[in-house]
Amino acid sequence: MRVSIIGTGYVGLTTGVCLGFLGHKVTCIDSDQNKIALLRAGKTPIYEPFLTELMAEARPNLSFCGEYAGSLQDAEVVFIAVGTPPSADGSPDLRYLSEAARGIGQHFEGDFLVVVNKSTVPIGSGNWVGSLVRESYEQQHGRKANGHFSVASNPEFLREGTALHDSLFPDRVVIGSDNNRALQVLYSLYRPILDQTFAAPTYLARPEGVGAVPLISTDLASAELIKYAANAFLATKISYINEIGQLAEKVGADISQVAKGIGLDARIGTRFLQAGIGWGGSCFGKDTAALVATAREYSLSMPIVEAAREINRRQRERVVEKLLAELKILKGRTIGLLGLAFKPNTDDLREAPAIDIARKLIERGCKVKVHDPVAMDRFEREYPDLSVVCCESPEEVADEADALALITEWQDYRELDWEVMASRMRSPLVLDGRNALDRARLERFGFRYLGIAG
Ligand SMILES: NC(=O)c1ccc[n+]([C@@H]2O[C@H](COP(=O)([O-])OP(=O)(O)OC[C@H]3O[C@@H](n4cnc5c(N)ncnc54)[C@H](O)[C@@H]3O)[C@@H](O)[C@H]2O)c1
Repeated sequence: MRVSIIGTGYVGLTTGVCLGFLGHKVTCIDSDQNKIALLRAGKTPIYEPFLTELMAEARPNLSFCGEYAGSLQDAEVVFIAVGTPPSADGSPDLRYLSEAARGIGQHFEGDFLVVVNKSTVPIGSGNWVGSLVRESYEQQHGRKANGHFSVASNPEFLREGTALHDSLFPDRVVIGSDNNRALQVLYSLYRPILDQTFAAPTYLARPEGVGAVPLISTDLASAELIKYAANAFLATKISYINEIGQLAEKVGADISQVAKGIGLDARIGTRFLQAGIGWGGSCFGKDTAALVATAREYSLSMPIVEAAREINRRQRERVVEKLLAELKILKGRTIGLLGLAFKPNTDDLREAPAIDIARKLIERGCKVKVHDPVAMDRFEREYPDLSVVCCESPEEVADEADALALITEWQDYRELDWEVMASRMRSPLVLDGRNALDRARLERFGFRYLGIAG
């Protein structure tokens, strides 16, 4: 099928590459000309494992374009995958979505186009996008748009770091539309994924036991709400274990054992149950805020989701409080942060706890040193004003440090020579913000070990 994708970020590029790999003809459009230049040169503007490799395989079916003109006129499906960042009041900023919708209406010249909202958009956006597309089509072409467009919602559930795996072997595909023709087009598009009939790349093997992928075919509003409800649930699960972790610490319980003990109950499940400094990233904070803002429009409050947000905010403060309690004085101390990305295997720094924690430590008069295996370049580009010392290696972070805090649980950090790390520090103190390090081993090397909970 002929597919266009608007926005080549984490979601749009992953979607485009996967659909191209499956044999569809895909045009990826982005208003950022630097991204388009990189993509045309075979490079990816983001760090995502195996994306460069899969993009090379899909290359014959992919084209990249910096403008809408010439990229949409004969498409059968167009995905909107632009950012929907939070505004000051928590509701999503829909200006990119509206630009994309208008661009579609202006430049489509074919007979029938399915416009798919893949961006996470507030409930009701499907109808709004539809009206923008039709309005700009009518202005541009001087004729009625009736019957030419149908809007569908196809929320994205990929996790950065395993985005390709999640797109090729998803837990489910959700499609919301009130139009049967649009639904049929999207079933055809996703058929190879739904039936798992494609040959998986060698570096992204199909997990054992993966068979047909469940399809949730529903109305627009339900599909839109599924995305928000899923993210709010996952965020709440993390905050729940962090809340229990605070009590575990007081009563002398081991939160890892508690999490395992409850997680093995099949009704609960072990995933998203690791206590630590909490969630970050572009989705959970923004989407929980948007859910609360939507509920407010209907005079509803969402106390569970609001509490999850508050607990997450507090976890970041606890890092500073714990260091203060242990070191007594923070002014003049050197604190090393291991990890900047909001989670391992990505270079995404949006709402990363490391940024907040670095700011709080600087306010307290600390000298902050930082390292990340892949996010250093992005960090220096996006946070030029944050006065930290950027280090080339974790060992350099350890030099003369009074404490280290593990912020992102990169595998590289678990495997460090912690004996060497201890020898380079002023005092070997480690705050394991992800409860990911081997406490007994670190203590053998002379570390004082602080977990974030329990
Ligand atoms: N990142 C994730 O893990 C993830 C997961 C699920 C859903 N989502 C949702 O998907 C959407 C996209 O997220 P992302 O992380 O890929 O964002 P991103 O910021 O990485 O990418 C968005 C891209 O859209 C481009 N863009 C903006 N306005 C445009 C326009 N008018 N025309 C063409 N291109 C335009 C930007 O230049 C950018 O490259 C958001 O709504 C997000 O909430 C993200």
